[in-house]
Amino acid sequence: MSQQQPTTTTGQVGAVVVLAAGQGTRMRSRTPKVLHRLGGRSMLGHVLAAAAPLGAAQTVVVVGSGREAVEAHLAEVAPGAVPALQEQQLGSGHAAAVALDALPELAGAVLIVNGDAPLLRAATLADLVRAHADAGNLLTVLTARVADPTGLGRIVRDDAGGVTAIVEERDADAAQRAITEVNAGVYLGDARAVREALRRVGAANDQGEQYLTDVLGLLVADGERVGGHTAADAADTLGCNDQRELAARRRTLNDRVLDDLMRAGVVVVDPQTTWVDVTVEVAAEAVLHPGTQLLGTTSVGTGAEVGPDTTLVDTRVGEGATVLRSQCQQADVGPSATIGPFSYLRAGTRLARGAKVGAFVETKNVTVGEGSKIPHLSYVGDATIGAGSNIGAATVFVNYDGVAKHATTVGDHVRIGSDTMLVAPLTIGDGAYTAAGSVITSDVPPGAMAVARGKQRNVAGWVGRRRPGSPSAQAAAAAAGAASAPATDTPPEPSGPHPARTSDDDQQGQP
Ligand code: UD1
Ligand code: CA
Repeated sequence: MSQQQPTTTTGQVGAVVVLAAGQGTRMRSRTPKVLHRLGGRSMLGHVLAAAAPLGAAQTVVVVGSGREAVEAHLAEVAPGAVPALQEQQLGSGHAAAVALDALPELAGAVLIVNGDAPLLRAATLADLVRAHADAGNLLTVLTARVADPTGLGRIVRDDAGGVTAIVEERDADAAQRAITEVNAGVYLGDARAVREALRRVGAANDQGEQYLTDVLGLLVADGERVGGHTAADAADTLGCNDQRELAARRRTLNDRVLDDLMRAGVVVVDPQTTWVDVTVEVAAEAVLHPGTQLLGTTSVGTGAEVGPDTTLVDTRVGEGATVLRSQCQQADVGPSATIGPFSYLRAGTRLARGAKVGAFVETKNVTVGEGSKIPHLSYVGDATIGAGSNIGAATVFVNYDGVAKHATTVGDHVRIGSDTMLVAPLTIGDGAYTAAGSVITSDVPPGAMAVARGKQRNVAGWVGRRRPGSPSAQAAAAAAGAASAPATDTPPEPSGPHPARTSDDDQQGQP
């Protein structure tokens, strides 16, 4: 390679064309092939992401089968890309011609890529662009050396090593089938030359299709400079034609993501059961336990621990936080906060530093202040909770009246008694308490104790009279005998209610 080799390939490719009109029959799915997902993106999304750093002025995606769905997806993930409709799927060459018709002014280099190559990386495309420029080619095809070339187009080279043709397996003779260098389905060529050659492509092959691959042989026959660039990592070029290949590509992609994370200092306890989307960020010294899935825009901070058996979707986990056996969606978990086991944080859950959501808790659209706790068995929705407050076991924020949702505000250093129903709209003032088992329907001023439950009545001797001879009656009789026995050192139980007893880590609330 020359010393003047550009460090960037930006601007060297005028347009990117993605071929995505094929049916993908072998997927046996109603979903168009290029919309199948792996590692947090569609196949098409991965191809577009790999090509994006080339900085092409125009991107055209050829659509056909499942056109509406593909166009809708495109508008979402790459609004700048232009769909070009291939009415009938007459072959990859025909698809490329349709795309170039949509780019009538294009004169420079065009990158044409199969839409079913989800492992393609930007660096591999940059290498192709450099190789193409260094060789001064009119057309360069990306190739790969593979152990098993079954089903792929073979790269035919002459004695001098020059590429002379691409032959599809079904059109190949025995000698050509033995070739293990294959066509990756990625081509970089001069737009005018490719456009012109595509007009000459016939359909005299086993499938009766217009093959894009024939452009190469036509240009060679014209005496033009044509070459092949072998990908550094053959995995980049692997296509995806059925569910088994999709699963294999997904695994490869995940391995790459985890390798990168581990190289950067993330602890991945069990790479086999840990799945991380390409769009996720994990800081060094975070620990991912077995069965962890990090999806979408999730990020995990330094020293945080996630899992085992935890799924985070579009969730941010702060430094040193822990999320144990839980599911979180669009949640924001502050530094040193703790979650789980077995909790479900739904959209709009925001935990400040050191907050706790314990076991069997569901939250939605909730802000929890610094150090506040929801330790056990609660539902908290549409609420703001201040700092240093404790929500007793089995509390329900009753936020829905069957028509509309209502909000609850809980102040700082509040103690909500166990089994409290907080019927919204409601405000609980700073430092207030609620009695266990209360149904709170009106606001509680700061510092007040709210009691809203039936008064207890003990019917003395009821069990002995109504359940005579039962184990309960016998136990009661024995206790009565003990009570009339000589006094012990045991201090008497304090009398009166304990309305404000709440639950926290060390002390379960009274029923
Ligand atoms: C193609 C190549 C083969 C290469 C392999 C790499 C051809 C003729 N063969 O084979 O040499 O080794 O990719 O994976 O190109 N498409 C359209 N419209 C059509 C037909 C296809 O848009 O009318 C699109 C498909 O959606 C797909 C791409 O072109 O993204 C390639 O088509 P596919 O049928 O998958 O070709 P392969 O048999 O895999
Ligand atoms: Ca294919």
